[in-house]
Amino acid sequence: MKLLHTAQQFRAFRDELHGTVGLVPTMGALHDGHIAHLGAARAVAGVDHTVVSVFVNPTQFGVGEDLDRYPRTLGEDVKRCAAAGAAAVYAPPVEDIYPPHLPPCPVGPPAVADDLDGARRPGHFAGVCRVVMKLLQRVQPDVVTFGRKDYQQLCVVRAMIEDLFVPVRIVEVPTVREPDGLAMSSRNRHLDPDARRRAKALSKALRAAAALAARGETSPAAAESAMTDVLNAHGLEVDYAVVRQHRSLETVDTLSPEHCVALIAAHVVNADQSRVRLIDNLALDETIAG
Ligand code: PAJ
Repeated sequence: MKLLHTAQQFRAFRDELHGTVGLVPTMGALHDGHIAHLGAARAVAGVDHTVVSVFVNPTQFGVGEDLDRYPRTLGEDVKRCAAAGAAAVYAPPVEDIYPPHLPPCPVGPPAVADDLDGARRPGHFAGVCRVVMKLLQRVQPDVVTFGRKDYQQLCVVRAMIEDLFVPVRIVEVPTVREPDGLAMSSRNRHLDPDARRRAKALSKALRAAAALAARGETSPAAAESAMTDVLNAHGLEVDYAVVRQHRSLETVDTLSPEHCVALIAAHVVNADQSRVRLIDNLALDETIAG
């Protein structure tokens, strides 16, 4: 497996690749949730070669967010990708993705980025769209994978790819979870042991919403307050806990298990008062084991 940094290195490698190529865009600190994307690219789309990009994208972090604190573990990431059968890890320097002499030419983000994380993290999805377009242009993949874990991101990127006629197929990867239901995330490593225990409230709250819908509850407000109650009971600070139309993420008047998704963002507070913001979601016709 190759470890590539510069645009020149990447182009030389790409020119020699024959067969279909899958791209797994990541910010590194890889866990099993990321590694599942390699299997999905192969199993779902039959790609011959998978490139994992590792790039902590500065433009998607707001002022005061955790850009400096974001875990960087490239050595480990490379080992994991090699073991999982990747053809290459592409870990470009920031100046290669954002050459200082080029003025930015932002495209997007689409309307589905306006609310939820888009509203709470101004500029976040503009940064995601920008880096995803750049990575797609550089890597020229046939297939790109995105995780359902970041459901709004998946909706945003899908809308951008459709609107701009980007010739790539998106493979959606289901959320990989810890045994207690917590969605795997690079940020979980910032949780102290007590915060880690309480973090399972996110999946518990999502389960509560799905259970209400399964029992025939039709009020979105009832599901939303059930989620908020579970999160508060575990001492989490709720950013949002909502039920939305899937894909469009528009508000809904009636709960429908087939058409709705529950989405949560919440802060878990460590003993030293540092806060870790976690997100999770669940389609209301899905279940979480555990
Ligand atoms: P990152 O958070 O590293 O996630 C990379 C990819 O892995 C995303 O598609 C994300 O949805 C997926 N992923 C994360 N946790 C997962 C889990 N538990 N199960 C399955 N998939 C999971 O998302 C980003 O990076 C960035 O915004 C990026 C798209 C790379 C642009 O910078």
